[in-house]
Amino acid sequence: MTINLKKCTLEDLHTLQDISYETFNETFKDQNSPENMTIYLERAFNLEQLEKEIANSSSEFFFVYFNHEVAGYLKVNNNEAQSEKMGDESLEIERIYIKNQFQKHGLGKYLFNKAMELALELNKKKIWLGVWEKNENAIAFYRRMGFVQTGAHSFYMGDEEQVDFIMTKTLN
Ligand SMILES: CC(C)(COP(=O)(O)OP(=O)(O)OC[C@H]1O[C@@H](n2cnc3c(N)ncnc32)[C@H](O)[C@@H]1OP(=O)(O)O)[C@@H](O)C(=O)NCCC(=O)NCCS
Repeated sequence: MTINLKKCTLEDLHTLQDISYETFNETFKDQNSPENMTIYLERAFNLEQLEKEIANSSSEFFFVYFNHEVAGYLKVNNNEAQSEKMGDESLEIERIYIKNQFQKHGLGKYLFNKAMELALELNKKKIWLGVWEKNENAIAFYRRMGFVQTGAHSFYMGDEEQVDFIMTKTLN
């Protein structure tokens, strides 16, 4: 069993789009309408949008490979790329997604550890994220990784306003 990590570049654009669609669908399709899913997928993961995000020097994407197959990805945002004004002492985990078939093998923790490593290198004091209040699996995972709920904000899934919990881990 081998686990590898790779920072995404523009050459990975199509692979990033594929895994973004696939994991978002797997995670949320059972609890959301097809219309809202389509609106969100097209808005968030169109090639132009993803290209802009990869090119943003304050964001980083990483793929995790399990036995040389792309199994999941991580997106972190620094400084003004953060989706809330959390300031320069914080790093955001915007996306951490493992394909269903690869979950519960330690890959989520592996990506989380990468985010921790980046936060420490950048001398951050906190890592934070937004997670849908109904995403119980992810909330349990984040609690296990030491996050606590510190707030909430709105998230639009298509035309539906949803509540995201903001969870934060303070770094020593
Ligand atoms: C949430 C997610 C990233 C976790 O990744 P994973 O690879 O399945 O988790 P890991 O195997 O690395 O688990 C790490 C630890 O968290 C615990 N954990 C993971 N999922 C859990 C759950 N649903 N409930 C309780 N504990 C959980 C594991 O038991 C493990 O504990 P340990 O350190 O004591 O061994 C993954 O399930 C996922 O991609 N889900 C769908 C996408 C998603 O919801 N992303 C978050 C969007 S905000």
